[in-house]
Amino acid sequence: MKKINPFKPNSPVSTGMFAGRINEIKMLEQALYQTKHDQPSNFLITGERGIGKSSLMMILKDFSSGKFETLDHGIFNFLTINIVVSERMSLLTFIKLIERNIKRELGKVEAIRSFMNSTWDFVQRIKIMDSGIDKINVTEDSDLVINDFSYSLSETCNRIINPEKGEDKKDGIVFIIDEADNACDDLHIGYFFKVVTEMLQQNGCQNIMFIVVGLPETSSKLAKSHESSLRIFNHIRVKELNPKDRFYVIDKGIEEGNRINDEKTSISEDAKQHISTLSEGYPHFIQQFAHTAFEYNSDGEISSEDVLEGAFKDGGAIDAIGSRYYASDFHSKIKSNEYRQVLGIMAESMNEWIKKSDIREKFTGLDQTLTDALAALTQRKIILKNDSVRGEYRLQQRGFALWIKLFGSRGK
Ligand SMILES: Nc1ncnc2c1ncn2[C@@H]1O[C@H](COP(=O)(O)OP(=O)(O)OP(=O)(O)O)[C@@H](O)[C@H]1O
Ligand SMILES: [Mg+2]
Repeated sequence: MKKINPFKPNSPVSTGMFAGRINEIKMLEQALYQTKHDQPSNFLITGERGIGKSSLMMILKDFSSGKFETLDHGIFNFLTINIVVSERMSLLTFIKLIERNIKRELGKVEAIRSFMNSTWDFVQRIKIMDSGIDKINVTEDSDLVINDFSYSLSETCNRIINPEKGEDKKDGIVFIIDEADNACDDLHIGYFFKVVTEMLQQNGCQNIMFIVVGLPETSSKLAKSHESSLRIFNHIRVKELNPKDRFYVIDKGIEEGNRINDEKTSISEDAKQHISTLSEGYPHFIQQFAHTAFEYNSDGEISSEDVLEGAFKDGGAIDAIGSRYYASDFHSKIKSNEYRQVLGIMAESMNEWIKKSDIREKFTGLDQTLTDALAALTQRKIILKNDSVRGEYRLQQRGFALWIKLFGSRGK
């Protein structure tokens, strides 16, 4: 009989399987409490692909919107708006999306609906500017739009924290802006947050919290758009899960599997240890290795063999992780076979530091090509350069090294 696999490498986890992040949650919870009491603060949340940023935000949303009671601060009731930034999104589209989401959440009450329509009527006007071919006054237009936006937002927030009869009283508004690393120059993302937060303050609006989420390069995108925009954020860097939390994820998954399937499954300590080590603490990888081991197992107990065979075979966990995270870097971002040869040589040392002179011994191309390759790969953040030892480089993750060794030569 086929069992339902409880591990989900490709979608956020349910609250039950969510592990760790206690410090991060406590910091955010404290900030919600402050924001409710007129001391708003904003957060920048960054971390590598698959480290669990969006999952952390799902939990936060459950806390801020009042779906669950928080750890230390009781129940909140924030209007919580989740926006995902896409690659070509302009400032105007971004603002329209926010308006639409707020209306969707609040517009269920008749009185609020007409209030919202008159408060946000500037959005109807920007449609005209947006569709115009005249882009000469774009910055000026942006300033006007941001000004109108901040005003409408303050009015909306004040209305929902001081509701009229029959309306729900809210604690304020929480914005979760995910995948902010996608922001293009036209979004003016740093400028937007800097100006909006200042204007909200001027308008006496003190119950709005912005949480901007993305890959580590989000910081430089914000700074590039407005030098001092980073100063308005408290920065949380989401890191790998520690071994205890990794084991928790696996145990909870097995538990869930036994709840939904008649046929029971267990897992040996060794097998858990292997999943923990192979994953390097990346939650996405824990889910993937556990998922494949669960598939691979046939006798009811997941053993280290199940984990290892599931990990290394063609179409197995490392292959799946590679197609999702590394293949595009390796095949599309890198156009030259010589650059790929450099990565292949580096992968032999896994993700340990390796000297340029050692790479040169094995590299078959010109010295200059090697120099160019190392510079380009570092600049594209595919490899890291050692700041304290000259001429040393390494791959970022062991998983990437393993994948290059196993599947790198396979082609696209
Ligand atoms: N704290 C956690 N406990 C258990 N599993 C987790 C946790 N965080 C994330 N995961 C798992 O890891 C996977 C990746 O998580 P998530 O999508 O949140 O990462 P992300 O940092 O937002 O990735 P991306 O950079 O691709 O947007 C999820 O599908 C989920 O199954
Ligand atoms: Mg995400």
